[in-house]
Amino acid sequence: MRTARAAAELIKIAIPKGRLLEESSALFERALGVSPKQLLSGTRKLAADAPEAGLRFISIRAADVASYVEHGAADVGIAGLDVLREESRDLYEPLDLGIGRCNVIVARPRGAPPLPKGVAPRVATKYVVLANRHFAKKSLPAEIIQLHGSIEVAPSLGLADAIVDITETGETLRANGLVVEEKVLEVSARLIVNRVALKLHAERLRRLISALRTVAVAEHEPSRSG
Ligand code: PRP
Repeated sequence: MRTARAAAELIKIAIPKGRLLEESSALFERALGVSPKQLLSGTRKLAADAPEAGLRFISIRAADVASYVEHGAADVGIAGLDVLREESRDLYEPLDLGIGRCNVIVARPRGAPPLPKGVAPRVATKYVVLANRHFAKKSLPAEIIQLHGSIEVAPSLGLADAIVDITETGETLRANGLVVEEKVLEVSARLIVNRVALKLHAERLRRLISALRTVAVAEHEPSRSG
């Protein structure tokens, strides 16, 4: 009975809005012939079904995808390694999708003099855990200032000596007079799966993961790290 119900249910997939939407959608289109972007566009509804594929796509803010999947509101999602390592949630991470590649870095104003010895730099970031871990690993005391966006402007306003943030093209850093000082984490998007869903829909999820793996490996040759 339970198995019959599980088979009839649509698998719920949390698709991130923003910079990962385009590439995530393209992966699903190549793997399964359905485009979540197309299904979700032109409607104010945040969910759209592809019944022929047995899937329901839900449009979720990128930073919230892992939370939806961990709590079982979605069975599967796509999330950046930056978010996953910052939050350490209880999720199954079967696949590096090789999309959304960027880096978490430490950046400082171009030409800034080194800080006097013994002075802990003030570091603005939304990655409090990653930043703390990075400076602790180097045994460098740092004062971490948590922000939620527009991180790159913090040094020029005197709020911070450095930032920890993601960079993709480097445009935002350049435009704000910052240069990369160190790399903290190489990031790509991962497929994440709810642990209960993995048992309940074992066969269907195995097939879904395998179809996505085939196109991800073919097109992006993702790293096996992380
Ligand atoms: C990220 C990051 C930078 C920018 C870097 O912000 O915080 O501001 O992208 O990209 P670039 O190197 O290509 O210029 P995002 O656009 O994800 O928005 P957010 O500030 O809301 O996180």
